Amino acid sequence: MQQKFLLTLSFAALLIAAPAHAAPEAAPVKATVEGSAPAATATEGAAATDAASDATPAAPAPAADGNAMTKTDGDAQTMEADGKTAAETHGAAPAEEGGHHAPSLPQEEWSWSGPFGVFDRHQLQRGFQVYKQVCASCHGLSRIYFRNLSALGYNEAEIKSIAAETQVMDGPDDSGDMFERPGRPSDHFKSPFANDNAARAANGGALPPDLSLIVRARADGSNYVHALLTGYEAAPAGFTLTQGMHYNKYFAGHQIAMPQPLMDGSVTYEDGTPNTIDQMSRDVTAFLTWASEPNMEKRKQVGLKVMLFMFAFAGLMYATKRKVWKDVH
Ligand code: HEC
Repeated sequence: MQQKFLLTLSFAALLIAAPAHAAPEAAPVKATVEGSAPAATATEGAAATDAASDATPAAPAPAADGNAMTKTDGDAQTMEADGKTAAETHGAAPAEEGGHHAPSLPQEEWSWSGPFGVFDRHQLQRGFQVYKQVCASCHGLSRIYFRNLSALGYNEAEIKSIAAETQVMDGPDDSGDMFERPGRPSDHFKSPFANDNAARAANGGALPPDLSLIVRARADGSNYVHALLTGYEAAPAGFTLTQGMHYNKYFAGHQIAMPQPLMDGSVTYEDGTPNTIDQMSRDVTAFLTWASEPNMEKRKQVGLKVMLFMFAFAGLMYATKRKVWKDVH
């Protein structure tokens, strides 16, 4: 996504910069640099600035052009340079295996990426199953209510029975006591621990974060969660792993308190989808991506409609302008 965005930006910058290159007024600037051929050919950067400042006393008008040109070139270059630096920094990370930087994340194909991307309901249901059967024993999902599961394609009766599988603390009752009751569609997913301290105590001092917004809370979240779940391996020789920690290629610092949660066959899918670590990671990533932005599909639809409207409106405005100015031109 980021790369595409950068590409679009540089393309836009090129479009803006192109006329400046092509502008015939650029010629006088070159002409004022007294017969020095190399300077005349170098139309960008410092050479052009020199040319412009040299030319200033003699010919103010071309100098202004030269400035404009230099500025545009400069901008374009800065952007390119930034782009390169970003790419290089990214690319350099894997070299620091032993360091505290996680390697760059493998970029997966997701059904929801791009402006037309949508979630696959079957995948969301499988991901929910993985969350429920594996992750929910340590992680809450407090921003999602059972009723929200209708977006995954479950009907009301199914949602009621899913909610009823859980026990929810409610109260106080008439005598002031808290009590447990089966969950309802209006309840949200709760942390399995009574409080953060209990959660830490059960996890070697580390707090399993609520997963509602985890995909948005991490850079390149979907790819990160998938990479994290598939990134467990034996610590390389020479790496000192703290007692009770686990080595993970993609976790910053490589030591994570979460034991590898998914093993081949951790859950059994009803639709016969292979239950490999990779597949289950993908599915739960899809589910968590949905959880962190349940309205994503709607947002994209509205965005497309707005763009369409803008194009149509621009056409209309252009036609109007031509009509209004017809007699003047
Ligand atoms: C046995 C408990 C346990 C289970 C089961 C578990 N986790 Fe975790 N998880 C943890 C703990 C503890 C941490 C905090 C790790 C740390 O800070 O070192 C954590 C952290 C995470 C993080 C955050 C990593 C970060 O960048 O900070 C993600 C994402 C995550 N778990 C996803 C999952 C998913 C998805 C599942 C189910 C497939 C799952 N976990 C199952 C205990 C668990």
